[in-house]
Amino acid sequence: MSIKVKGFLKDVGGASRVTELRKKSIETASAVPDPVDNIRAVADALHPDHMEFRVTAVREASPTSRVYRMVSTDGHIPVFQAGQYVNFRLKIGQSELTRPYTISSAPFDARGEQGYVEVTIRRNRPYLVPDWFFENVGVGTVLQGNMPFGTFYYEPLRDSKNLLALAGGSGITPFYSMAREIAYGKMKGVRLTILYGSVHHSDIVLGEELARVERDCPEVKVVHVLSGDEGWTGEKGFITKELIAKYMGEDPTVLFCGPIAMYKLVEQAVTELGLTCRRFRHDVMNQPSDPAQLAGYPAGNKNKVWKLKVLRGIHEDLIEARGDEPVAVALERAAIPVDTHCRCGECGYCRTQLLSGEIFVSPNGDGRRLMDKEMGWFHACSAYPVSDLTIRIPIL
Ligand SMILES: Cc1cc2nc3c(=O)[nH]c(=O)nc-3n(C[C@H](O)[C@H](O)[C@H](O)COP(=O)(O)OP(=O)(O)OC[C@H]3O[C@@H](n4cnc5c(N)ncnc54)[C@H](O)[C@@H]3O)c2cc1C
Ligand code: FES
Repeated sequence: MSIKVKGFLKDVGGASRVTELRKKSIETASAVPDPVDNIRAVADALHPDHMEFRVTAVREASPTSRVYRMVSTDGHIPVFQAGQYVNFRLKIGQSELTRPYTISSAPFDARGEQGYVEVTIRRNRPYLVPDWFFENVGVGTVLQGNMPFGTFYYEPLRDSKNLLALAGGSGITPFYSMAREIAYGKMKGVRLTILYGSVHHSDIVLGEELARVERDCPEVKVVHVLSGDEGWTGEKGFITKELIAKYMGEDPTVLFCGPIAMYKLVEQAVTELGLTCRRFRHDVMNQPSDPAQLAGYPAGNKNKVWKLKVLRGIHEDLIEARGDEPVAVALERAAIPVDTHCRCGECGYCRTQLLSGEIFVSPNGDGRRLMDKEMGWFHACSAYPVSDLTIRIPIL
């Protein structure tokens, strides 16, 4: 106790000395602002507003997916965690689009003089942005964007060192990044087991790369679970409660990244296994291509086309907005720039003011603050028009 009192008195004494020192430095300070702002420079290096990525290699990661390796044109790649994403800013036709892609390489790959990041993009059906990548992006292409974003990464203060990853489709990318980082010895004491669900073995993304990490690193185990491959001799079917129980080990943190349909099955399984919210986390998920899958989505709205009045500073545009697409997509289609990052309602970058009309907000990731809800703000990436609307957005 006496130590605490002494420490307290020392702090009080110290505070008065600091006040004196501050007074002196204010009195002797120059009236002209210091042109070198070191703190700003560090902040900019950690979170640059804008980056340029030059593609240096492209390779296949499965019959339907490609890995794009990129360096930063100014040589600096900000520090990031395995599981975070790059947000690309793309011009496709007249539209300026932003799209997130998880960094599938390890943070350690980005360090040093030859530092790089990789994204793995899947095109298993016609898609706007993956189609554009596959058809337009090759070695030498310069892409605009920035990084790092996202909160889906291992946090030692919160997570168990025993990680069980549940992945589907391109949802393997954050876990491949983690696996590589573990193999580099950069996530000390962490063990990672990946249950990776696919239909057929040819659907597995980064299959050879995963096999290599597993072979080289005893802390990483990969279990493929195939639901439609007759000849498969490994685990079959979907990722069930029984499979999770079989592989989860002692006191795991379960991490999920995959499609919404898979999430629903997995969420029920982990709940039945008695895992607490703290021990079950999922990455952000895109809105489903069919919003009728969303609980509460108004029947009959899917085929409607609404009028959307968009106010931006002194600009006023009147555009169409389909009932089956989020408001952000209507803006993108009309070539009105809108800043999106997570595209699932979580981050708030696309925060928009609703001046009139009605919207349906997706229950998947309504990350608005209570005050925003009450004051008529919404996230355009995860809200669907259900009447004609008037909205106000910032000018980008
Ligand atoms: C955090 C995060 C990380 C991700 N990481 C990965 C990853 O590692 N790998 C991966 O493959 N995917 C990843 N994704 C998904 C990825 O961001 C894309 O959503 C995905 O590749 C599909 O592309 P798309 O959005 O163009 O799809 P689409 O479904 O083709 O398009 C999206 C919307 O744009 C609309 N649209 C159509 N035409 C136009 C037009 N002319 N102008 C404007 N809009 C139009 C479509 O109707 C649709 O509503 C990630 C998503 C998130 C949220
Ligand atoms: S882009 Fe993140 S909330 Fe809309």
